[in-house]
Amino acid sequence: MATDQGSDRRAERTPPGSEKAGAAERSPTETSVERVTHQDVGAICSLYKKVWESEAGLPTDLVKAWQPSPLEFTSWMEGVTYFAARRSGHLIGIVGCELRRGACRLVHLAVDPDGRRQGVGAALVTAAVDWARRSGAGAVWADPLARFQACGHLFLQLGFSESGVLHRHESGEDVRLFERVL
Ligand SMILES: CC(C)(COP(=O)(O)OP(=O)(O)OC[C@H]1O[C@@H](n2cnc3c(N)ncnc32)[C@H](O)[C@@H]1OP(=O)(O)O)[C@@H](O)C(=O)NCCC(=O)NCCS
Repeated sequence: MATDQGSDRRAERTPPGSEKAGAAERSPTETSVERVTHQDVGAICSLYKKVWESEAGLPTDLVKAWQPSPLEFTSWMEGVTYFAARRSGHLIGIVGCELRRGACRLVHLAVDPDGRRQGVGAALVTAAVDWARRSGAGAVWADPLARFQACGHLFLQLGFSESGVLHRHESGEDVRLFERVL
């Protein structure tokens, strides 16, 4: 059910606390961030396919593991709360929030390569942090591959601190750890 909403546009950031603005108040080109529903599953799987197939040099097992089938993504949804970003009706970004023992891990963050550097990733992570706070989490953390430098910049810009590196941690790739205490 789409209960949590947020919105963001580079030139018109939504003021804190007003993220419940209704769809009717948004302009057609504005980015909205909402909880995903089962109706979104097909579009989400297509987005992941586009994102990971465009990342040159990624280990092939990761490319495969991060492109779920609709059935696999439905099972991911059982333990993770996902938010999707949309613009003009198109799903252009996604992030998952995995709440475990009082901390929220961000997973599967991805933005359509054609829609980057327009504030979509920041809007998704901001919505995820807001949701984690409302859910009582004491911290939000993420463990992107070190090769995803844009992601590192994004977390640092949003007030996360870098707390370490795990070497050759995932399919031989280094992983960076970021955390934001709430
Ligand atoms: C990381 C990712 C989600 C960022 O999405 P995005 O919508 O382009 O990010 P935003 O436009 O919200 O960027 C917000 C800030 O992050 C930083 N940033 C984002 N992309 C950057 C890049 N390519 N280089 C440097 N800084 C970058 C900047 O500080 C940016 O602010 P600015 O544009 O005002 O300078 C996107 O690049 C992506 O999907 N990458 C591939 C998958 C990935 O890395 N997933 C993360 C796994 S955890």
